[in-house]
Amino acid sequence: MAEYDVIIIGGGPGGYVCAIRCAQLGLKTACVEGRGALGGTCLNVGCIPSKALLHASHSYHEAHTNFEKMGLMGGNVSVDMGKMMDYKQSVIDANVNGIEFLFKKNKVDYLRGWGKITAKGEVSVDGEVHKAKNIVIATGSEVAPLKGVEVDQDKVIDSTGALALTEVPKRLVVIGAGVIGLEMGSVYARLGAEVTVVEFLDHITPGMDAEIQKTLLRSLKKQGIKFVLKAAVQRVESKDGVATVHYKLRKDDSDASLEAEKVLLATGRKPFTEGLGLEEMGIKTSPRGQVETDGNRRTNVEGIYAIGDVITGPMLAHKAEEEGIAVAESIAGQAGHVNYDVIPGVIYTTPEVASVGKTEAELKEQGRAYKVGKFSFMGNGRAKAVFGSEGFVKILADKDTDRILGCHLMGPMAGELIHEICVAMEFGASAEDIARTCHAHPTFSEAMREAALACGDGAIHA
Ligand code: FAD
Ligand code: NAI
Repeated sequence: MAEYDVIIIGGGPGGYVCAIRCAQLGLKTACVEGRGALGGTCLNVGCIPSKALLHASHSYHEAHTNFEKMGLMGGNVSVDMGKMMDYKQSVIDANVNGIEFLFKKNKVDYLRGWGKITAKGEVSVDGEVHKAKNIVIATGSEVAPLKGVEVDQDKVIDSTGALALTEVPKRLVVIGAGVIGLEMGSVYARLGAEVTVVEFLDHITPGMDAEIQKTLLRSLKKQGIKFVLKAAVQRVESKDGVATVHYKLRKDDSDASLEAEKVLLATGRKPFTEGLGLEEMGIKTSPRGQVETDGNRRTNVEGIYAIGDVITGPMLAHKAEEEGIAVAESIAGQAGHVNYDVIPGVIYTTPEVASVGKTEAELKEQGRAYKVGKFSFMGNGRAKAVFGSEGFVKILADKDTDRILGCHLMGPMAGELIHEICVAMEFGASAEDIARTCHAHPTFSEAMREAALACGDGAIHA
């Protein structure tokens, strides 16, 4: 038995970041992970492998659509799925090994096995008991089931199955037009599958800016992805190598169906707390299964904290990381703060989508007077040079004070560009602060400045 200041259960971006920061703050720290590899969902079956496949499929698509336009001839590039998956795995391995290295460097003990909280200050790892003054639950999430749809990882796959296909399906039906559905749908559409996305709502990417939702939908349709909106999937049946997705059209309650070689279930994720001992410990959970916490990520049991996908809030790796650092700091006696108002969201489609702060719908609901500064990537020289002029930047600023309240954009490198606004918001900056900052030419980020200018006297290149 070993004794620690902190034991973190779960080695995903919430858990491993928390562990490293705890160790850096002088706390004797261990991190328990049961899947046999550090990095959690994110590194093993989430963010990182999906971005590797998005990169590979985007490169393939570029070779076929834009290379000749630039005078790059003769490249009839073909797909070798085996090699693509090897590349994806090498990216995962490099990242996972990196975390093991960081644990050694920071003297975090890596306890391999499934952890269970057996008493206050006690974690059993596959039966071996370890003591800790503080325990952090960072056990993440898993795919939420959908009634009538059984994931067999053959005909019906989840995101993990979609990250490991050995051939491109002729037809792929995606259930759910959220982030996973659109990212993985894009991968296989680019590689040649006929992709149809069936979505319950009348729009895609719930929670995003409405104008972005419409523009992204139009763009994805142009890329060949089909959408069936306002349709509730009822069940999926598999027979003779074909899956049939049965759904109800909400407008008239009529039944319809689609056939496909593969069906991807992408209707959301739920907290993973199985075998953790929550009930026995009296740790409170919400009706949705999230571990309940206060503003400082403390559970109702003293000395036990929770972070990341297993608690409330957006299921995002960087949100989990922020909470990991904050909890480490709280345990070490520091402030431990997370600004939940400035957590960016990115969808890695082409064009990319990024968003931070309030949407127009939210501001209207709050009755807050705001102004909109918009700029199209059509007016950005760099974007034109890389076939990236589709999309726009929209900055929302307070009507009276000019303080930036939100930003929503779709376009090249949107996921990088958004951070200019995140930093600005952290500093309480105005749109004019961005507009008066010299931006290098020719860069995509000039579009951010132009949108900021549009909040004032007007953009130059519009
Ligand atoms: P997790 O990463 O889920 O890690 C929890 C870990 O705890 C797991 O490794 C699990 O094995 C372990 N564990 C659970 N219970 C126990 C136990 N009892 N004992 C020991 N170990 C245990 N987010 C983004 O921000 N950007 C993206 O681009 C992005 N892409 C995604 C793509 C896909 C396909 C998916 C599925 C998710 C994606 N996400 C993305 C979401 C992101 O992966 C999660 O928000 C993030 O991983 C949450 O981190 P976490 O540390 O809370 O949990
Ligand atoms: P999601 O919550 O983003 O989207 C699920 C979609 O399925 C919704 O649009 C919903 O309306 C729809 N839906 C639900 N039931 C349905 C039904 N019966 N029929 C048809 N449609 C139905 O969930 P998703 O895409 O599974 O992602 C899970 C989590 O992973 C998200 O919270 C996201 O934050 C995270 N993630 C983040 C990424 C990123 O940051 N780039 C990438 C991938 C995942």
